[in-house]
Amino acid sequence: MSGPDVPDANINGYSYDDLMAIVNFLQSKLVSLKPKVAIICGSGLGSITDIIENQISLPYEEIPNFPVSTVAGHGGCLVFGILSNVPVMCLKGRFHFYEGYPLWKCCMPIRIMKLLGCSHLIVTNAAGGINQNFKIGDVMLIKDHVNFMGFAGNNPLRGPNEERFGTRFPGMNKAYDKDLIKAALDIAKGLNIEDKVHQGVYASVGGPNYETVAELKLMQTLGIDAVGMSTVPEVIVAKHSNLSVFAFSLITNECVLDWDSHKEPNHEEVLKATQNMEVVLQNFVKQIIEYIGKITCVCKQ
Ligand code: HPA
Repeated sequence: MSGPDVPDANINGYSYDDLMAIVNFLQSKLVSLKPKVAIICGSGLGSITDIIENQISLPYEEIPNFPVSTVAGHGGCLVFGILSNVPVMCLKGRFHFYEGYPLWKCCMPIRIMKLLGCSHLIVTNAAGGINQNFKIGDVMLIKDHVNFMGFAGNNPLRGPNEERFGTRFPGMNKAYDKDLIKAALDIAKGLNIEDKVHQGVYASVGGPNYETVAELKLMQTLGIDAVGMSTVPEVIVAKHSNLSVFAFSLITNECVLDWDSHKEPNHEEVLKATQNMEVVLQNFVKQIIEYIGKITCVCKQ
């Protein structure tokens, strides 16, 4: 990466010009395609890209200065194309704090999305259900979040602020677009999955270990419905970049809130739960993009 030495690993190492160089590279590969909606595929949810038409897929390793993801179930490429007649881009394989990346690096693709012209971001993740009404395979539309990583001082916006990306002190009380949540609830009805779709509060932890019973009980007391190891830093950067955000969690495991339980969460269980919901979620995302296309007239010119 060009630019001055990074004084602290927590302080953004990508300058505006560094990101523009990546954007120029991507645009040279995309010819006339201008993505309007961006999607981040969570653990095991990469098959959302299967329904994208006229795909251009770029492995992260082939994009100069792009990080490379290291987790099983994360594909590791940017996929561009058309979905519901809307030009889209997909981050197939996200970057997590627990992999060792600083948060500014985990979230750099969000700024790339914005600089490429996206107006909306759809974030998906796998999460543990804390809310006792949630079952494995349910979907939680995120209406708000608790940033536990931020409580510990880990924030992707830490460091000097680049005004060309956004304001120093962004509000976060309207991080999740209410209109898109409402539309998604209607779409769920149309797909006959309204019993499986809830709204709730997502909390992000650093991982990679799953939570202790005491930690989960604390979260339950705080009114948190689901917990995971991603999403919140990305949403913070998206809101800083003035993107409209819609996010949902696929509940892949029930959090163990009982000290006497013999159950233990594991990554295989998480991936299995996502496989069972692949097709339904493809349709769900497709229809949300169709809705965004309609309200913003961003359909393919
Ligand atoms: N905790 C944290 N992250 C997760 C979980 C969980 O139970 N399930 C999937 N991602």
